[in-house]
Amino acid sequence: MNQIKSSPPPPFPPDTVWDVAGGKAAGIYTWFKEISEELDNGWVLSDNNRMLMLGGYSYLGLNKRPEINQAAIGAIQTFGTGMSGSRFLAGTTELHSQLEKKIAELHNKEGAIVYTSGYLANVSTIACLLRKNDFIICDKTNHASMIDGGRYSNAKLMRYPHNDLTRLQKILASIPDSSRKLVVIDAIFSMSGEAADIPQIIALCKKYNAYLMVDECHSIFVLGKTGGGIAEYFNIKPDDIDITMATLSKSIPAAGGYIASSEKMINYLRHESRGFIYSIALSAAMAATALRGLEIFESERQTLLERLNDNTEIFKKTLRSSGIQLGDSVTSIIPILVGDPMKAAVAAKICHEHDLYIHAVFPPVVPVGKAILRASITASHKKEDLIMAGKTIGAILTEVEKMELPNISGYN
Ligand SMILES: Cc1ncc(COP(=O)(O)O)c(C=O)c1O
Repeated sequence: MNQIKSSPPPPFPPDTVWDVAGGKAAGIYTWFKEISEELDNGWVLSDNNRMLMLGGYSYLGLNKRPEINQAAIGAIQTFGTGMSGSRFLAGTTELHSQLEKKIAELHNKEGAIVYTSGYLANVSTIACLLRKNDFIICDKTNHASMIDGGRYSNAKLMRYPHNDLTRLQKILASIPDSSRKLVVIDAIFSMSGEAADIPQIIALCKKYNAYLMVDECHSIFVLGKTGGGIAEYFNIKPDDIDITMATLSKSIPAAGGYIASSEKMINYLRHESRGFIYSIALSAAMAATALRGLEIFESERQTLLERLNDNTEIFKKTLRSSGIQLGDSVTSIIPILVGDPMKAAVAAKICHEHDLYIHAVFPPVVPVGKAILRASITASHKKEDLIMAGKTIGAILTEVEKMELPNISGYN
């Protein structure tokens, strides 16, 4: 038989976008750092070393609260560890129904639906709501789960430059009136902590007859006077946002994601959303954890928010007095502007050597030339630890400016 000459196929799996092996060889690979125990006041144990966690999402500092742990243990004793089915079939416990009722009340919506993660809630909701000839319109820095939901749907995905509402308006104006349009947006951008201009976006959606879905993963429980999220922060009527999405894995120390919306919408998702129907139910332990977390939020929100805001201010003030530039965050997400990805990577590595658990964030997650160290502060941090951390990071960034840096693909 004649041999057919051809070039070999591309590597499988394909090459990673950035050079993982090169990063490891240069000693600047800081990801997947193992934690062996969560300690008090934002400290963790890693490699037998106490490290101050500055990269976690437990904004209210509720993780490991004994009452919450107890709720999870109680649910395991009642229901076991497994769910043995999707919510549609054998996986709905009374805890799930109570949790959904509580979430709906929290957002002043008619109903809610809980998924096993926030990622799945976004992907699965968006994918089943939009069809061919529909449009999904996203800010370019939206969380990947919203973009991925748009990709899984058969709708046309249109993305506008970050915060460019003039472009958003142009896009909306260019879509035929007869098409279904969904604008999807992070209330608080996860890397920068800035708030999206939701009142202006609502006005545009109304003008062009578009539906609006808002991701409140980084705003509900922490933003607004009582932690009521973006609606409280901007004094927005609940009905001005068609679909609210959030996670149960950040301020609430559980897992799971949810959608709160009209009864009609929730009923549709319960019967059409593939990530809900064709996947295991959220575990009863996590439903109980989330329920107890919500109760603690309700009863302690004022104290927790006060502590969180004071801690955030102290950390920002310490960094600024070391000459460090920060982004325009309105929450406890603190983007420490570095610019060059390699400098950010080296700074993160030196932070780890000083027992500060923090990560660098590079493009495409942040815009080109705007690499950051991303810190997030919690209500359980101690002020003296945050002052120490702020001063140490200031000194490290000054040092990195003078260093000769390696050149590795993907870190530029
Ligand atoms: C804005 C935003 N949306 C969605 C998600 C996904 O949530 P989960 O971690 O519950 O899957 C995240 C998680 O980081 C997020 O930051």
